[in-house]
Amino acid sequence: RPPRVGDRVDRRLARCLTIADLEAKARRRVPPAVWDYVHSGAEAEASLRRNREAFERVEWCPTAFEQVGEPDLSTEVLGRPAAMPVVLAPTGYTRMSHHTGESAVVRAAERAGVPYALSTYATTSIPDVAAAAPGARRWFQLYLMKDRAVSREHLRQARECGYEAVQLTIDTSMTGQKLKDERNGFGVPPRLSTGTLIGMATHPRWVADILTTEPLSFATFPAGSPHARWGVSNRVREQAIRPSDVAWVKAEFGGPVLVKGVVSVRDAVAAADAGADAVVLSNHGGRQLDRTAAPLELLPAVADAVGDRVEVHLDSGVRSGADAAAALALGARAVMIGRPYLYGLMAGGGRGVDRCLEIIRSDLTRTLSLLGARSVSGLTPAHVRLRDAP
Ligand code: FNR
Repeated sequence: RPPRVGDRVDRRLARCLTIADLEAKARRRVPPAVWDYVHSGAEAEASLRRNREAFERVEWCPTAFEQVGEPDLSTEVLGRPAAMPVVLAPTGYTRMSHHTGESAVVRAAERAGVPYALSTYATTSIPDVAAAAPGARRWFQLYLMKDRAVSREHLRQARECGYEAVQLTIDTSMTGQKLKDERNGFGVPPRLSTGTLIGMATHPRWVADILTTEPLSFATFPAGSPHARWGVSNRVREQAIRPSDVAWVKAEFGGPVLVKGVVSVRDAVAAADAGADAVVLSNHGGRQLDRTAAPLELLPAVADAVGDRVEVHLDSGVRSGADAAAALALGARAVMIGRPYLYGLMAGGGRGVDRCLEIIRSDLTRTLSLLGARSVSGLTPAHVRLRDAP
Protein backbone atom coordinates (compact mmCIF):
# COMPACT_ATOMS: atom_id res chain seq x y z
CA ARG A 1 0.00 0.00 0.00
CA PRO A 2 1.20 3.58 -0.58
CA PRO A 3 2.89 5.18 2.41
CA ARG A 4 0.56 7.32 4.53
CA VAL A 5 1.39 10.60 6.22
CA GLY A 6 1.06 8.81 9.55
CA ASP A 7 3.79 6.37 8.63
CA ARG A 8 6.12 9.24 7.82
CA VAL A 9 5.40 10.89 11.16
CA ASP A 10 5.95 7.61 12.98
CA ARG A 11 9.27 7.03 11.22
CA ARG A 12 10.37 10.56 12.05
CA LEU A 13 9.40 10.09 15.70
CA ALA A 14 11.06 6.67 15.89
CA ARG A 15 14.35 8.34 14.99
CA CYS A 16 14.06 10.45 18.16
CA LEU A 17 15.96 8.54 20.84
CA THR A 18 16.06 11.27 23.48
CA ILE A 19 13.89 14.15 24.65
CA ALA A 20 16.55 16.45 23.15
CA ASP A 21 15.87 14.84 19.74
CA LEU A 22 12.14 15.54 20.15
CA GLU A 23 12.96 19.09 21.25
CA ALA A 24 14.96 19.72 18.07
CA LYS A 25 12.09 18.47 15.90
CA ALA A 26 9.53 20.45 17.89
CA ARG A 27 11.32 23.75 17.51
CA ARG A 28 10.95 23.76 13.74
CA ARG A 29 7.22 23.12 13.82
CA VAL A 30 5.85 26.11 15.75
CA PRO A 31 6.15 29.90 15.35
CA PRO A 32 9.05 31.35 17.37
CA ALA A 33 6.75 33.12 19.86
CA VAL A 34 5.04 29.82 20.71
CA TRP A 35 8.44 28.15 21.07
CA ASP A 36 9.65 30.89 23.41
CA TYR A 37 6.49 30.63 25.51
CA VAL A 38 7.04 26.92 26.11
CA HIS A 39 10.82 26.74 26.21
CA SER A 40 11.92 29.80 28.15
CA GLY A 41 12.16 30.57 31.86
CA ALA A 42 11.57 33.60 34.05
CA GLU A 43 13.91 36.57 34.50
CA ALA A 44 17.59 35.59 33.99
CA GLU A 45 16.62 31.89 33.73
CA ALA A 46 18.86 30.90 36.66
CA SER A 47 16.34 28.36 37.97
CA LEU A 48 15.87 26.93 34.50
CA ARG A 49 19.63 26.28 34.29
CA ARG A 50 19.92 25.05 37.89
CA ASN A 51 17.20 22.46 37.28
CA ARG A 52 19.38 20.81 34.64
CA GLU A 53 22.65 21.33 36.53
CA ALA A 54 21.17 19.44 39.49
CA PHE A 55 20.49 16.38 37.35
CA GLU A 56 24.00 16.65 35.88
CA ARG A 57 25.32 16.18 39.43
CA VAL A 58 23.80 12.70 39.74
CA GLU A 59 26.32 9.89 40.17
CA TRP A 60 25.07 6.31 40.43
CA CYS A 61 26.20 3.76 42.98
CA PRO A 62 24.98 0.51 41.38
CA THR A 63 24.49 -2.80 43.12
CA ALA A 64 25.75 -4.58 40.03
CA PHE A 65 25.65 -8.07 41.54
CA GLU A 66 21.87 -7.63 41.68
CA GLN A 67 21.25 -6.68 38.04
CA VAL A 68 17.87 -7.71 36.74
CA GLY A 69 16.48 -8.43 33.28
CA GLU A 70 13.20 -6.61 33.16
CA PRO A 71 12.48 -4.42 36.18
CA ASP A 72 8.91 -3.70 37.22
CA LEU A 73 8.06 -0.03 36.67
CA SER A 74 4.50 -0.24 37.93
CA THR A 75 3.71 1.60 41.12
CA GLU A 76 1.02 3.38 43.10
CA VAL A 77 0.57 7.12 43.00
CA LEU A 78 -1.98 8.58 45.43
CA GLY A 79 -2.99 5.04 46.32
CA ARG A 80 -3.90 3.98 42.77
CA PRO A 81 -1.97 2.02 40.18
CA ALA A 82 0.18 3.73 37.57
CA ALA A 83 2.16 1.96 34.85
CA MET A 84 5.20 4.00 35.85
CA PRO A 85 5.83 6.80 38.38
CA VAL A 86 5.47 9.60 35.83
CA VAL A 87 2.74 12.24 35.63
CA LEU A 88 2.05 14.69 32.80
CA ALA A 89 2.22 18.15 34.37
CA PRO A 90 -0.41 20.85 33.85
CA THR A 91 0.49 23.28 31.07
CA GLY A 92 -1.52 26.31 30.00
CA TYR A 93 -2.65 26.92 26.40
CA THR A 94 -1.65 23.47 25.17
CA ARG A 95 -3.48 23.92 21.84
CA MET A 96 -0.82 26.51 20.97
CA SER A 97 1.74 23.70 20.81
CA HIS A 98 -0.44 21.55 18.55
CA HIS A 99 -4.06 21.97 17.48
CA THR A 100 -5.01 18.60 19.02
CA GLY A 101 -3.95 20.00 22.42
CA GLU A 102 -5.10 18.65 25.76
CA SER A 103 -7.30 15.92 24.22
CA ALA A 104 -4.32 14.37 22.45
CA VAL A 105 -2.25 14.57 25.64
CA VAL A 106 -4.85 12.93 27.87
CA ARG A 107 -5.33 10.10 25.34
CA ALA A 108 -1.57 9.48 25.32
CA ALA A 109 -1.61 9.44 29.13
CA GLU A 110 -4.39 6.84 29.00
CA ARG A 111 -2.44 4.66 26.55
CA ALA A 112 0.67 4.85 28.74
CA GLY A 113 -1.23 4.26 32.00
CA VAL A 114 -0.01 7.45 33.70
CA PRO A 115 -1.96 10.37 35.24
CA TYR A 116 -2.45 13.71 33.47
CA ALA A 117 -3.12 17.01 35.24
CA LEU A 118 -5.28 19.51 33.34
CA SER A 119 -4.41 23.19 33.85
CA THR A 120 -6.87 25.88 34.94
CA TYR A 121 -5.55 27.72 31.88
CA ALA A 122 -6.42 24.91 29.52
CA THR A 123 -7.61 25.46 25.97
CA THR A 124 -9.96 22.45 26.17
CA SER A 125 -12.75 22.32 28.74
CA ILE A 126 -12.86 20.07 31.81
CA PRO A 127 -15.74 17.91 30.40
CA ASP A 128 -14.21 17.70 26.90
CA VAL A 129 -10.92 16.38 28.28
CA ALA A 130 -12.85 13.82 30.35
CA ALA A 131 -14.80 12.75 27.26
CA ALA A 132 -11.59 12.43 25.23
CA ALA A 133 -10.17 9.81 27.59
CA PRO A 134 -12.77 8.50 30.04
CA GLY A 135 -10.41 5.78 31.27
CA ALA A 136 -7.43 8.06 31.96
CA ARG A 137 -6.32 8.99 35.44
CA ARG A 138 -7.14 12.69 35.34
CA TRP A 139 -6.21 15.37 37.90
CA PHE A 140 -7.19 19.03 37.82
CA GLN A 141 -4.67 21.80 38.54
CA LEU A 142 -6.35 24.63 40.39
CA TYR A 143 -5.34 28.25 40.27
CA LEU A 144 -7.42 29.53 43.15
CA MET A 145 -9.45 32.62 42.18
CA LYS A 146 -10.27 35.57 44.42
CA ASP A 147 -13.88 34.90 43.49
CA ARG A 148 -14.28 31.54 45.23
CA ALA A 149 -17.51 30.88 43.29
CA VAL A 150 -15.38 30.48 40.14
CA SER A 151 -13.06 27.99 41.87
CA ARG A 152 -16.02 26.17 43.41
CA GLU A 153 -17.41 25.71 39.90
CA HIS A 154 -14.07 24.36 38.62
CA LEU A 155 -13.94 21.89 41.51
CA ARG A 156 -17.56 20.82 40.96
CA GLN A 157 -16.92 20.16 37.26
CA ALA A 158 -13.71 18.28 37.99
CA ARG A 159 -15.45 16.09 40.58
CA GLU A 160 -18.48 15.40 38.38
CA CYS A 161 -16.30 14.60 35.37
CA GLY A 162 -14.33 11.96 37.29
CA TYR A 163 -11.07 13.83 37.96
CA GLU A 164 -9.55 12.04 40.91
CA ALA A 165 -7.33 14.70 42.53
CA VAL A 166 -6.62 18.42 42.58
CA GLN A 167 -3.21 20.05 42.35
CA LEU A 168 -3.37 23.41 44.10
CA THR A 169 -0.59 25.58 42.65
CA ILE A 170 0.83 27.97 45.25
CA ASP A 171 3.75 29.60 43.41
CA THR A 172 1.88 32.08 41.23
CA SER A 173 0.85 35.10 43.31
CA MET A 174 1.97 36.96 40.19
CA THR A 175 2.79 35.65 36.76
CA GLY A 176 6.57 35.27 36.47
CA GLN A 177 8.29 37.70 34.16
CA LYS A 178 9.22 35.88 30.99
CA LEU A 179 11.17 38.44 29.06
CA LYS A 180 10.86 36.70 25.71
CA ASP A 181 7.07 36.57 26.01
CA GLU A 182 6.95 40.26 26.81
CA ARG A 183 9.22 41.15 23.92
CA ASN A 184 7.23 38.91 21.56
CA GLY A 185 3.93 40.43 22.70
CA PHE A 186 2.77 36.86 23.40
CA GLY A 187 -0.96 36.40 24.10
CA VAL A 188 -3.89 34.01 23.71
CA PRO A 189 -5.31 34.07 21.11
CA PRO A 190 -2.11 35.08 19.27
CA ARG A 191 -1.91 38.86 18.90
CA LEU A 192 -0.98 40.40 15.62
CA SER A 193 2.32 42.23 15.41
CA THR A 194 5.15 42.27 12.90
CA GLY A 195 6.92 39.51 14.84
CA THR A 196 3.92 37.22 15.16
CA LEU A 197 2.95 37.80 11.51
CA ILE A 198 6.43 36.78 10.35
CA GLY A 199 6.30 33.75 12.65
CA MET A 200 2.94 32.74 11.21
CA ALA A 201 4.00 33.31 7.62
CA THR A 202 6.91 30.93 8.11
CA HIS A 203 4.69 28.29 9.73
CA PRO A 204 1.65 28.05 7.42
CA ARG A 205 0.86 24.50 8.52
CA TRP A 206 0.55 25.54 12.17
CA VAL A 207 -1.66 28.48 11.18
CA ALA A 208 -3.89 26.33 8.94
CA ASP A 209 -4.34 23.74 11.71
CA ILE A 210 -5.22 26.40 14.27
CA LEU A 211 -7.68 28.09 11.92
CA THR A 212 -9.54 24.87 11.18
CA THR A 213 -10.14 24.02 14.86
CA GLU A 214 -12.05 25.78 17.65
CA PRO A 215 -10.83 29.33 18.29
CA LEU A 216 -8.07 29.33 20.88
CA SER A 217 -9.49 30.40 24.21
CA PHE A 218 -9.40 29.70 27.94
CA ALA A 219 -11.85 26.84 27.78
CA THR A 220 -12.23 26.19 31.50
CA PHE A 221 -13.98 29.56 31.97
CA PRO A 222 -17.38 30.39 30.50
CA ALA A 223 -17.17 32.33 27.23
CA GLY A 224 -17.18 36.05 27.91
CA SER A 225 -16.12 35.64 31.54
CA PRO A 226 -13.64 38.34 32.60
CA HIS A 227 -11.44 35.49 33.89
CA ALA A 228 -11.05 34.24 30.33
CA ARG A 229 -9.29 37.35 29.06
CA TRP A 230 -5.52 37.35 28.50
CA GLY A 231 -3.59 39.63 30.82
CA VAL A 232 -6.06 39.81 33.71
CA SER A 233 -4.74 36.80 35.62
CA ASN A 234 -2.92 38.75 38.33
CA ARG A 235 -6.10 40.64 39.12
CA VAL A 236 -8.49 37.69 39.33
CA ARG A 237 -6.21 34.93 40.68
CA GLU A 238 -5.89 34.65 44.47
CA GLN A 239 -2.63 36.34 45.42
CA ALA A 240 -2.55 35.33 49.05
CA ILE A 241 -3.06 31.58 49.37
CA ARG A 242 -3.16 30.43 52.99
CA PRO A 243 -2.70 26.95 54.49
CA SER A 244 -6.42 27.04 55.35
CA ASP A 245 -7.19 27.15 51.61
CA VAL A 246 -5.91 23.57 51.34
CA ALA A 247 -8.71 22.40 53.63
CA TRP A 248 -11.24 24.51 51.70
CA VAL A 249 -10.20 22.96 48.37
CA LYS A 250 -10.24 19.48 49.88
CA ALA A 251 -13.72 19.94 51.34
CA GLU A 252 -15.14 21.47 48.15
CA PHE A 253 -13.60 18.83 45.91
CA GLY A 254 -14.06 15.86 48.24
CA GLY A 255 -10.85 14.11 47.22
CA PRO A 256 -7.06 14.25 47.47
CA VAL A 257 -5.23 17.57 47.16
CA LEU A 258 -1.61 17.95 46.10
CA VAL A 259 0.15 21.23 46.86
CA LYS A 260 2.27 22.18 43.83
CA GLY A 261 5.04 24.72 43.78
CA VAL A 262 6.92 23.93 46.99
CA VAL A 263 10.59 24.99 46.99
CA SER A 264 11.43 25.04 50.68
CA VAL A 265 11.32 22.60 53.56
CA ARG A 266 9.24 25.19 55.41
CA ASP A 267 6.47 25.18 52.81
CA ALA A 268 6.57 21.38 52.54
CA VAL A 269 5.96 21.08 56.30
CA ALA A 270 3.23 23.75 56.17
CA ALA A 271 1.48 21.94 53.29
CA ALA A 272 1.62 18.60 55.11
CA ASP A 273 0.36 20.24 58.32
CA ALA A 274 -2.48 21.83 56.34
CA GLY A 275 -3.74 18.41 55.25
CA ALA A 276 -2.25 18.04 51.76
CA ASP A 277 -2.07 14.46 50.48
CA ALA A 278 1.10 15.18 48.54
CA VAL A 279 3.57 17.99 48.04
CA VAL A 280 4.93 18.67 44.59
CA LEU A 281 8.45 20.02 44.77
CA SER A 282 8.55 22.31 41.77
CA ASN A 283 9.89 25.68 40.69
CA HIS A 284 7.36 25.65 37.87
CA GLY A 285 10.08 24.60 35.44
CA GLY A 286 11.97 27.83 36.20
CA ARG A 287 9.05 29.97 35.05
CA GLN A 288 8.06 31.76 38.26
CA LEU A 289 10.41 32.99 41.03
CA ASP A 290 13.88 32.92 39.53
CA ARG A 291 16.86 31.77 41.68
CA THR A 292 14.85 29.19 43.58
CA ALA A 293 16.60 25.95 44.46
CA ALA A 294 16.51 23.09 42.00
CA PRO A 295 13.84 20.71 43.39
CA LEU A 296 16.19 17.71 43.07
CA GLU A 297 18.68 19.31 45.47
CA LEU A 298 15.94 20.04 47.98
CA LEU A 299 14.43 16.58 47.74
CA PRO A 300 16.46 14.71 50.40
CA ALA A 301 15.66 17.32 53.06
CA VAL A 302 11.97 17.45 52.11
CA ALA A 303 11.65 13.66 52.01
CA ASP A 304 13.24 13.61 55.45
CA ALA A 305 10.88 16.26 56.83
CA VAL A 306 7.51 15.06 55.43
CA GLY A 307 8.09 11.83 53.47
CA ASP A 308 6.54 9.66 56.17
CA ARG A 309 3.32 11.72 56.18
CA VAL A 310 2.63 12.66 52.54
CA GLU A 311 3.73 11.62 49.08
CA VAL A 312 6.50 13.77 47.66
CA HIS A 313 6.36 14.42 43.91
CA LEU A 314 8.92 16.39 41.94
CA ASP A 315 9.17 18.22 38.65
CA SER A 316 11.37 20.82 36.90
CA GLY A 317 14.12 19.65 34.61
CA VAL A 318 13.29 15.94 34.25
CA ARG A 319 14.43 15.05 30.72
CA SER A 320 15.00 11.30 30.86
CA GLY A 321 14.10 8.15 32.71
CA ALA A 322 17.51 8.35 34.40
CA ASP A 323 16.55 11.77 35.79
CA ALA A 324 13.29 10.25 36.99
CA ALA A 325 15.18 7.36 38.63
CA ALA A 326 17.42 9.80 40.51
CA ALA A 327 14.40 11.61 41.96
CA LEU A 328 12.71 8.33 42.87
CA ALA A 329 15.87 7.11 44.59
CA LEU A 330 16.11 10.31 46.61
CA GLY A 331 12.55 9.94 47.92
CA ALA A 332 10.03 11.05 45.28
CA ARG A 333 6.94 8.90 44.75
CA ALA A 334 6.51 10.24 41.21
CA VAL A 335 8.00 12.79 38.84
CA MET A 336 6.13 15.14 36.55
CA ILE A 337 7.23 16.25 33.12
CA GLY A 338 6.04 19.45 31.43
CA ARG A 339 8.05 20.59 28.43
CA PRO A 340 9.13 17.07 27.35
CA TYR A 341 5.58 16.03 26.42
CA LEU A 342 4.90 19.43 24.82
CA TYR A 343 7.95 18.85 22.61
CA GLY A 344 6.46 15.48 21.66
CA LEU A 345 3.11 17.14 20.97
CA MET A 346 4.69 19.79 18.74
CA ALA A 347 6.79 17.19 16.92
CA GLY A 348 3.95 14.79 16.13
CA GLY A 349 0.65 15.41 17.96
CA GLY A 350 -0.55 12.59 20.22
CA ARG A 351 1.93 10.14 18.69
CA GLY A 352 4.71 12.51 19.69
CA VAL A 353 3.50 12.38 23.29
CA ASP A 354 3.47 8.57 23.01
CA ARG A 355 7.09 8.74 21.80
CA CYS A 356 8.08 11.00 24.71
CA LEU A 357 6.63 8.53 27.19
CA GLU A 358 8.25 5.56 25.40
CA ILE A 359 11.63 7.26 25.64
CA ILE A 360 11.19 7.91 29.37
CA ARG A 361 9.93 4.37 29.93
CA SER A 362 12.82 2.79 28.07
CA ASP A 363 15.42 4.94 29.92
CA LEU A 364 13.84 4.11 33.25
CA THR A 365 13.83 0.38 32.48
CA ARG A 366 17.48 0.43 31.44
CA THR A 367 18.57 2.53 34.42
CA LEU A 368 16.84 0.31 36.98
CA SER A 369 18.21 -2.83 35.36
CA LEU A 370 21.81 -1.58 35.25
CA LEU A 371 21.57 -0.21 38.78
CA GLY A 372 20.31 -3.49 40.12
CA ALA A 373 16.84 -2.41 41.21
CA ARG A 374 14.01 -4.87 40.56
CA SER A 375 11.28 -2.28 40.88
CA VAL A 376 10.86 1.43 41.46
CA SER A 377 10.41 0.80 45.16
CA GLY A 378 13.80 -0.93 45.10
CA LEU A 379 15.49 2.42 44.35
CA THR A 380 17.05 3.86 47.50
CA PRO A 381 19.18 6.86 48.44
CA ALA A 382 22.13 4.42 48.51
CA HIS A 383 21.89 4.22 44.69
CA VAL A 384 22.74 7.87 44.12
CA ARG A 385 25.14 10.55 45.17
CA LEU A 386 25.04 14.21 44.15
CA ARG A 387 28.54 15.24 43.07
CA ASP A 388 29.80 18.57 44.30
CA ALA A 389 28.69 21.41 42.10
CA PRO A 390 31.52 22.51 39.77
C1 FNR B 1 3.63 25.21 32.84
N1 FNR B 1 3.43 24.95 34.20
C2 FNR B 1 2.20 25.20 34.77
N2 FNR B 1 1.95 24.86 36.07
C3 FNR B 1 0.73 25.06 36.63
O1 FNR B 1 0.54 24.73 37.79
N3 FNR B 1 -0.27 25.62 35.88
C4 FNR B 1 -0.11 25.98 34.58
O2 FNR B 1 -1.04 26.47 33.93
C5 FNR B 1 1.18 25.79 34.00
N4 FNR B 1 1.41 26.18 32.71
C6 FNR B 1 2.61 25.85 32.11
C7 FNR B 1 2.79 26.11 30.75
C8 FNR B 1 3.96 25.71 30.11
C9 FNR B 1 4.14 25.98 28.65
C10 FNR B 1 4.98 25.05 30.85
C11 FNR B 1 6.26 24.58 30.19
C12 FNR B 1 4.82 24.83 32.20
C13 FNR B 1 4.49 24.28 34.99
C14 FNR B 1 4.40 22.75 34.84
O3 FNR B 1 3.25 22.25 35.46
C15 FNR B 1 5.61 22.06 35.47
O4 FNR B 1 5.75 22.48 36.80
C16 FNR B 1 6.92 22.33 34.72
O5 FNR B 1 6.70 22.34 33.32
C17 FNR B 1 7.95 21.28 35.06
O6 FNR B 1 9.19 21.58 34.49
P1 FNR B 1 9.71 20.98 33.10
O7 FNR B 1 9.36 19.51 33.05
O8 FNR B 1 9.01 21.75 32.00
O9 FNR B 1 11.16 21.24 33.16
